[in-house]
This record gives sequence, structure tokens and C-alpha cells, in this order.
Amino acid sequence: MTKSSIQVSHTIADIRNAIAQYKAEGKRIILVPTMGNLHEGHLELTRMARETNDVVVTSIFVNPLQFGAGEDFASYPRTLESDVAKLQSADVEMVFAPNVAELYPFEQRFTVSPNPDLSTILDGEFRPGHFEGVCTVVLKLLNITQPDAAVFGQKDYQQLMILKRMVQQFAMPTEIISAPIVRAADGLALSSRNGYLTDNERKQAPLLNQVLQGVVEDIANGLPISQAEKLALDKLTQAHWVPDYVMVRRQADLLAPVAHKKQRLVVLGAAKLGKTRLIDNIEIEGLT
Ligand code: PAJ
Repeated sequence: MTKSSIQVSHTIADIRNAIAQYKAEGKRIILVPTMGNLHEGHLELTRMARETNDVVVTSIFVNPLQFGAGEDFASYPRTLESDVAKLQSADVEMVFAPNVAELYPFEQRFTVSPNPDLSTILDGEFRPGHFEGVCTVVLKLLNITQPDAAVFGQKDYQQLMILKRMVQQFAMPTEIISAPIVRAADGLALSSRNGYLTDNERKQAPLLNQVLQGVVEDIANGLPISQAEKLALDKLTQAHWVPDYVMVRRQADLLAPVAHKKQRLVVLGAAKLGKTRLIDNIEIEGLT
């Protein structure tokens, strides 16, 4: 049997129309939002979506609102044709790939401002306005596609948490599903931004994951958290990276761990290697 071909919509009207037809048949819709340049990490999200009986919609949109001045919005890789081919092979039914004028025909003056306790720490401290841009575009994508569920990766741990809270706080009827981090064999978390690395940088890139793993081990060995964090920053700096942060936080709310209390923790890090900014995180198993 030949596979039915994937449907690509570039306009809101088009995708709504296509989704309405599935909904009229009683089908559920599951959305996988992306900025494209798809790799195995993204495809893992679509696989998780595929495992449901839902109709899978993947959105591809490089969202200007979530990039700061001086960031890589202009150079971010745009590879729609090969992305669509990958999604077709992954049995995704629909792609929503609007251009900027379609999603933002006028300046976007209504925006979502996420709780600053969550959105101005960690990545939010180094990328002011980033999570406001993420929430605004995801709210819009959810309103356009009205999915029953949406899948996000734990690679962007803080993003996932903020989006879960947004959906909760606005009583949005979409279930948020999280997918584990997909890594290269050497431990580097897959990312579209890995494509910016030179061959030499690519060889050094697993250091971020190794350093976070080191924090996990140091804490297991009884080193105080602040010392483990400092050691990690020093290792990155010595290897000529420019770290933004390496922090141990609570899985529940990303706040600092409370002293003398057992809690679930996660180590998060972000650092620049040459011109490329990489992020990663590792959940610590059990209570610490
Ligand atoms: P993007 O960076 O393209 O990522 C799309 C989705 O793929 C996110 O949910 C992200 O966490 C997930 N992802 C990326 N790399 C992954 C990996 N190695 N393992 C598992 N999941 C991975 O995140 C965004 O786009 C944007 O902020 C978006 C949510 C689309 C809003 O514009």
C-alpha cells in the first residue's frame, strides 16, 4: 500500500480546514511544535505522538518573538523541504508551516507574560523576553490547531515547565506530553544549533553533558551543591567555554533546593562554545 502523502499548510485557514475534516470524523489531534531543521530529537517527539491514535500535526515556524537582539534568528537553519520528507517518513499527517506575516500580520501587541519566578531565571536571565516569545507563539499555535495534546522535549526543561504552567493557568484543554532528551552517541544533546559547530568544536561539545554528569556524581559523593556548581563552571571555563550557568534546582519548580530537606533535583547548564550556545540538563534520580 502506498502511503498517503503528507499535507502541508502554510496558512491558518488551510490548516484549520484540514483539522476540521479530521475532527468531523471524530479524530483527536496531537501537535508537535518545532522550529524545523528536524533531527532525531524532534522525530522522537513525532514518534511519541504517532504512538497515540491521534492525527499528528507538526508545526514548523522560526518564531522571531523568542529571539533576542544579537541572537541567531536570521541565521537559524530553514530546511522545509527536507523536514517535510522526514515527517512524511515518520507518518505525520499534517505540517503547519506559516511564514512570519501569516502568524504576525500586525505587530503582536498582546503577549503572554509568564510568571517571572520561572521565566527570568536560568535561560530567562540570559535571554530576556525569550519565554514570553515562546509562550505567545505556543498559545497561538494551540489556538490555531486546537489539539487534544501537544508534545514537548525535556531538552528544553524550563520551556516545558513554563508551558505546562501556562496551559494550567489559562485552563487550556490541551494535555502537555513530555519526551526524553535524545543524545548523540557521545552524549551531546541533539539540537539544530549543533549545526553551527565547527568540526573541532563538535568534538569538544560533549563536555557540557560530561560536566553536568560530574555535578550529579559530586553531589552523590556528598559535595555541597554550591561547590559542585562552581567546579562545573571552572571546568567549562578552563576548556575555553563561556558558561552562562550551571545550577542544581528542584524538579518541581526550578527554585533552589531547600537545605536539609529531601527533594527531587535537576542539574541545568548553558554555555557558549565559540559562537554556539548549547543547553542541557540531567534529572537526578531519587531524592537528594
Ligand atoms: P525547537 O528547538 O525546534 O524544538 C522543538 C521541540 O523539540 C521542543 O519541544 C524541544 O524541547 C524538542 N527537542 C529539541 N531537541 C531535542 C532533543 N535532543 N531531545 C528531545 N527533544 C528535543 O523548542 C522550540 O523549537 C520552540 O521554542 C517552540 C516550542 C517550537 C516554540 O517556538
